[in-house]
Amino acid sequence: MFHDAGCMTQRKKAAKVPAAPNAFDYAHKHPREIVWMSQNTNHIPVSDVIDKAILKAVRDKEYNLYPRSGGIFGLCDVVKDHIELPKDYRVLLTNGGIEATYILNRALLKKGDEVICTDPSFMPIHHQVSISGGKLVEIPIYRKPWKLTPDWIRKSITKKTTTILLIDPINPLGTAYTRPEIKEICEIAEEHDLLIVDDVTYRDFSMPVPTYKYVPDRTVAVYTFSKQCGLAGMRIGALAAPPHLMERMMPYNTNVLSVNILAQRAALAAMERIDAWLPALRKQLLVNQRIIKDSVDSVKGCFLPVYPSRTNMFAVDIGKTGANPDLVQDMMLYDHNVFVRSGNYVSKNFGKNFIRVSFSVTEEGAERFAEAFPKVIAKLRK
Ligand SMILES: Cc1ncc(COP(=O)(O)O)c(C=O)c1O
Repeated sequence: MFHDAGCMTQRKKAAKVPAAPNAFDYAHKHPREIVWMSQNTNHIPVSDVIDKAILKAVRDKEYNLYPRSGGIFGLCDVVKDHIELPKDYRVLLTNGGIEATYILNRALLKKGDEVICTDPSFMPIHHQVSISGGKLVEIPIYRKPWKLTPDWIRKSITKKTTTILLIDPINPLGTAYTRPEIKEICEIAEEHDLLIVDDVTYRDFSMPVPTYKYVPDRTVAVYTFSKQCGLAGMRIGALAAPPHLMERMMPYNTNVLSVNILAQRAALAAMERIDAWLPALRKQLLVNQRIIKDSVDSVKGCFLPVYPSRTNMFAVDIGKTGANPDLVQDMMLYDHNVFVRSGNYVSKNFGKNFIRVSFSVTEEGAERFAEAFPKVIAKLRK
């Protein structure tokens, strides 16, 4: 009942027909059956050192104590080394990258400040900008080259522009910036005295050049352990900035008592061994995205704007089929137990053209997508 597009349309008219469950409620109720391709989380086993570290912390009853305010010894240092932060940068552990962006937006924006960002994007950050008084200047990037260009940034700058929000690689498209592009964006920031928020959530999947290599004094970086380490449920991330910017942000730090100790232990264990597990993960992502591409290419009117993706997701354009991406999401989920995300979640203006598919799932999961997708589009095509 839930899955049938015809029934879904009728449901709106006839109150008697039960409403479709919330997709997340449904997926969380059936976690074993679902191929979770909706949130860019990682479901490919990373390393058993993570489980061991969590279990040891439980056995040691580390949870009796508030964690050390600067985080467990070694964790911030390992982040600093791994993402090659400048020596003087300070690192603050947060409840996921989402809290890092919340703190920085609250602390650094004042009413009327214009923030250059993109559509599509990871919209919760845009919401944070708005509630902090900032004005979003969303540059459309659902067009070639599927990322910001220095030229588009220049044209969007006004006297009120204070910030460029870069997400690199880009959620949802999978594009990443080249070194010359980053260099030029940093030059623009220098010329116009702008701050750059460099959200490197997906960095580990392809290591693009961060802006703090060029403009360390005007970058605030956001890192997370959610995606590559498979620790989304642990809720741990990090905010990194030079001392003068960190000082401005500290009054907005909600974690004076630090963040979850089990999450910290898990993150440290994962990061200490990252060179041992990351290459295999990246290799599997290439295999999975190839499987998905073959399926998408077999469906008339569908294509991948960005391939290969530089991260663990990409957009699948379905615009020419006329299929509604919300219904594609529902039918993939309720008929096939494959949970993808409608483009409407990540784009105000282009969402009807695509779905977002995360492929950090097992190969069998990618194959289940490949089998289901053509069937779903065949049913929903207009
Ligand atoms: C670009 C971007 N930034 C930040 C986050 C926040 O992730 P988390 O809070 O799990 O670290 C996400 C999550 O999807 C994201 O896509």
